[in-house]
Formats: sequence, C-alpha cells, structure tokens
Amino acid sequence: MRPSIARPCSRPSRGVELAFVGRIPIAALANGAFVRLDYPPFDVLVALVEGKPFAIEDACNHSGASLSEGPRRGDCVVCPMHAYVFELSTGRLVEPLGFCNDQRRFEARIDGDDVVVTDPGAGVTLIRG
Ligand code: FES
Repeated sequence: MRPSIARPCSRPSRGVELAFVGRIPIAALANGAFVRLDYPPFDVLVALVEGKPFAIEDACNHSGASLSEGPRRGDCVVCPMHAYVFELSTGRLVEPLGFCNDQRRFEARIDGDDVVVTDPGAGVTLIRG
C-alpha cells in the first residue's frame, strides 16, 4: 500500500466581487418600461429586451439628460434632449454616429422575481482559496 500524500483540496481561484447597484421587481419593467436606479453620479437605466434585463448609464454622455425619461424605440432608448439613440442591450450609440460615445454598461441578472444590477467597474479582485 502506498503512503498517502497530503494535498490541498482546492486551488486558490480568482473572482471579481461586483458592487451592488440595486434590485427591482421584474414587473416594474413590464410593457417596455424603464426604471432608473439611483447610483451617483450618473444613475442607471434598467430595461428588458426580449425578456432579458439590461442596464446602462442613465445620464446621456452627450449632455447629461436622463435617458430613462426618453421614449423607447424598439430595443433602443431615444434621449429626450437631442434625440440621440442608444441600444439598450449594449449602450451603443446607434445614431447619430460620431457625435458622442456609447453609454457605459452594467451587469443585470434575474434573481427570482427581481432584477439585480451590479457595477463591474467598481469591482474588487479577490483571491479565494
Ligand atoms: S443630452 Fe442626450 S443627446 Fe444630447
């Protein structure tokens, strides 16, 4: 019989802890509605696209209008101030091209009857072992 050699039962793994932004009921997003989460300084717009939750920065990067106060056009939001159009699932500027940047994206996932939004940009890298 060979002697047993003690080994660590698991290797350390790396993970990213995301900053919590907010939690809202999925029902609040019914019928194409937007919800704005308070997340200073730019807040976060949350919406469903084909039943999946997405979250982008609410303050338009052109001049700061609240996108959640703008109308929805299909899978996009139209800025209420100068009518720039951003894709909800990516934050990408759809039109007019070249006049400002894409909106920052956040992580959004379904948890039970809620949508949970987190900020990957504010994460802290952890080592778990
Ligand atoms: S503030 Fe949004 S397009 Fe100008």
